[in-house]
Amino acid sequence: METIKHPVIPYIEGDGIGPEVMTAARAVLDAATARAFGGAKIIKWMEIAAGEKAQQIYGDALPGETLQTIRQYKVAIKGPTATPVGGGRRSINVALRRALDLFACIRPVRYFPGVAAPVKHPERLNVVIFRENTEDVYAGIEWQQGSDEALRVLRFLNENFKSGIKEDAGIGVKPITRSASKRLIRKAIQYALDNRRRSVALVHKGNIMKYTEGAFCQWGYEVAREEFPESVIAEKEARALGGAPSNKIIIKDVIADNMFQQLILRPEDCDVIATTNLNGDYLSDACAAQVGGLGLAPGANIGDDAAVFEATHGTAPDIAGKGKANPCSLILSGAMMLEHIGWRAAAERIHRAVSETLAQRQATPDLADQMEGATPLSTTDFAAAVIKNL
Ligand code: NAI
Repeated sequence: METIKHPVIPYIEGDGIGPEVMTAARAVLDAATARAFGGAKIIKWMEIAAGEKAQQIYGDALPGETLQTIRQYKVAIKGPTATPVGGGRRSINVALRRALDLFACIRPVRYFPGVAAPVKHPERLNVVIFRENTEDVYAGIEWQQGSDEALRVLRFLNENFKSGIKEDAGIGVKPITRSASKRLIRKAIQYALDNRRRSVALVHKGNIMKYTEGAFCQWGYEVAREEFPESVIAEKEARALGGAPSNKIIIKDVIADNMFQQLILRPEDCDVIATTNLNGDYLSDACAAQVGGLGLAPGANIGDDAAVFEATHGTAPDIAGKGKANPCSLILSGAMMLEHIGWRAAAERIHRAVSETLAQRQATPDLADQMEGATPLSTTDFAAAVIKNL
């Protein structure tokens, strides 16, 4: 990707506020690319269909052609898409992750000065969460209490393993595999190395779930030892040496509940986090809330063959079409995408410009309402302010 000067980047506008935030994000990405590379590198945007628009035009919310295009170009950026409640269409996000095997959900969380946050020192938090995307409770293997399946499973367990499960239980299965754990942790370690981070924490609940969560942690140390012996050191070894050598990142393990404490009490010690699906779900939102930026958090779903960068919020139907939507999440996801394709100079400009714009108390109403002396801007005006600061 790094050598491509005019990459084709497919984009899905999405539903609700999707088109508004996508227009803003594309304008910022184009301007940042132009400023960073002076016209030598240009994104060729290609709209692909998914969500309500695709449902209307093709009768399919996620047409095969859309998947094929993402496979072909390897990256895509996506606005939020609506999932009708109570049946109907499947979730586009889930379908995309499954079809393209996007096994790592990546959420960087940092503070932007000026944004109202609930803690005293939100600036001390700067983490990147790698959440496993394909298994754990996400695999969705569950049987309803009282169903024939639940009764068959629990009888099997009670008869064969003396599990002692009560007859009125609903049953869920939590599979954690060696292969999926290792590929996620491998990505997290590689990211830490590429981005000169200090540590990777394997976050798990292995004290209670030894053979799923505990195994995740063990497999993490295995990957570190076997595949990154020159560049990673276990925290215990580093302690014995009186500190980690400057060329090595530390790998450590932290029990999930302790991680939530550490994030609040000693956020500066937290860095890259690799974790299972459910832990990652909780941690992502808790971290984002800590810096006051649930609506600011960017996200990416990455596999070995494709990567989809997306806004982490939903379609916000209550404000759709009103020009009030905050495009930051998609703009910052776009910056992650530029980093992913090796255009770091443009990505850095975006980070600096978003930061500066918010520090100047220029923001969309969702953030401006909480900021002292802020000017509420429309989506388009906010994007223009960011572009000015690039
Ligand atoms: P939501 O994130 O759309 O909205 C929650 C609240 O946050 C609303 O008050 C909304 O106005 C506000 N909000 C969200 N994004 C904002 C932004 N960029 N700027 C300003 N305010 C913003 O969550 P909700 O209401 O639970 O879901 C609505 C729809 O979005 C559903 O159909 C759901 O399935 C879908 N959804 C899609 C996601 C995706 O595609 N990644 C993620 C979450 C929900």
